[in-house]
Amino acid sequence: MEAATEFVVESPDVVYSPETIEAQYEYRTTSVSREGGVLKEANYYGSLTQAGTVSLGLDAEGKEVFVPFSSLLPMVAPDDLVFDGWDISSLNLAEAMRRAQVLDWGLQEQLWPHMEAMRPRPSVYIPEFIAANQSARADNVIPGTRAQQLEQIRRDIRDFRFSAGLDKVIVLWTANTERFCEVIPGLNDTAENLLRTIQLGLEVSPSTLFAVASILEGCAFLNGSPQNTLVPGALELAWQRRVFVGGDDFKSGQTKVKSVLVDFLIGSGLKTMSIVSYNHLGNNDGQNLSAPPQFRSKEVSKSSVVDDMVHSNPVLYSPGEQPDHCVVIKYVPYVGDSKRALDEYTSELMLGGTNTLVLHNTCEDSLLAAPIMLDLALLTELCQRVSFCTDVDPDPQSFHPVLSLLGFLFKAPLAPPGSPVVNALFRQRSCIENILRACVGLPPQNHMLLEHKMERPGLKRVGPLATTSPVLCKKGSAPTAPNGCTGDANGHSQAEAPQMPTT
Ligand SMILES: NC(=O)c1ccc[n+]([C@@H]2O[C@H](COP(=O)([O-])OP(=O)(O)OC[C@H]3O[C@@H](n4cnc5c(N)ncnc54)[C@H](O)[C@@H]3O)[C@@H](O)[C@H]2O)c1
Repeated sequence: MEAATEFVVESPDVVYSPETIEAQYEYRTTSVSREGGVLKEANYYGSLTQAGTVSLGLDAEGKEVFVPFSSLLPMVAPDDLVFDGWDISSLNLAEAMRRAQVLDWGLQEQLWPHMEAMRPRPSVYIPEFIAANQSARADNVIPGTRAQQLEQIRRDIRDFRFSAGLDKVIVLWTANTERFCEVIPGLNDTAENLLRTIQLGLEVSPSTLFAVASILEGCAFLNGSPQNTLVPGALELAWQRRVFVGGDDFKSGQTKVKSVLVDFLIGSGLKTMSIVSYNHLGNNDGQNLSAPPQFRSKEVSKSSVVDDMVHSNPVLYSPGEQPDHCVVIKYVPYVGDSKRALDEYTSELMLGGTNTLVLHNTCEDSLLAAPIMLDLALLTELCQRVSFCTDVDPDPQSFHPVLSLLGFLFKAPLAPPGSPVVNALFRQRSCIENILRACVGLPPQNHMLLEHKMERPGLKRVGPLATTSPVLCKKGSAPTAPNGCTGDANGHSQAEAPQMPTT
């Protein structure tokens, strides 16, 4: 594997060692409350120290490669990942690829020899959880009681870990959408009850069985489908075992656009009052979703996506006021994986005017989802290597087991109890970006560009850049740094930066 160009932050706040990067980071946030008609503001700040082991693999000479966090994501090469999986259908992956009709024939022919040898492990099939139209493909199932099935999944995970020589396994549910599972006290509301339910063979969904097996094996579990796989008992188990869980439902197409567009509309002062979304698709997902209980799971996960944007603007929306939001999905076999999404957004303008936006989006559904699966695995693995402590709590801690940082990639993001759910895409992205910056002691990206907005230059430069000669910057291409980086630490081009007095 080719070693990536290192990106080193030179700062008294960051210490590199062969195995860790330790950064001191001051975190500031503000809480505002209204008391007796007066807005009161409380500032909170804490000093964080984070340390992460960043061993990522071997370089060409077989030595371990250590890289700072900022260059870590691009460094993970596809060859570093090993895949395995389960399916209730026994087709090998080459035959499954042909059945899915997503890739062009020429590409299928090239991939065939690589895919043919891969065969899914048998899985858990409980007919009432997915549409009846899926029964014909269920020829590869784990027999036995729920407890035996759970044990088999655990054995499979261990076998995969051992035979592929892996340090970590991350389990991703990308199988069919299931119907929702009712949360019932005594059945699945606590970890203890859920484990007892499995032992007694009472109602549990296949995806929840996989979640429980993964958590018991210490493997992160991520739910790419809309149903409530992570019932309270599974969440409690993840908390008890300190295992990351994330979900729900990949944010790939229509909902992703919605989480940008509604943020834009409301942020521009337009009061969005009606959102109507039609989809039609002809792949197996569409066929499964043509059954009402499975459609209902999808409808729920697609519906909450604008809630945070509406609630965040009490000037436009009075308490309890919501836009009408309607989601329709139809199965149209002819269009295959080439899913059509038609959306209409109607917003109120001033003086009784309305603004209607209509979108028609056609794309291969599966090809939007596959990179999200990879990103989820990479980000989760990265988060497993981050730990931090605060002034008041010096013991190192990890992120909360409900890994809300992954919300950027999920339609209905799970968040720890009591924490706000963020759906707006660029807020989610900014969260990831700034946490990664914090890992190397950099301040959050703020886009203030204050140095360009001052009447008189008044900012001091510190560190090595302070020694550069005070030549006026001309428009043109930015000088390239030895590591190929052309942006400044705030992500903007260096070429346009005004000169500051040096000290
Ligand atoms: N753009 C996207 O493709 C996208 C976006 C968001 C969410 N999703 C969700 O991802 C999931 C998968 O979508 P898809 O298009 O790949 O569907 P698909 O129907 O093509 O594939 C699902 C696979 O799961 C298998 N399966 C069914 N039950 C199983 C079980 N109990 N154990 C193991 N395997 C089982 C099926 O045999 C099938 O091969 C769905 O829930 C879908 O809603 C997909």
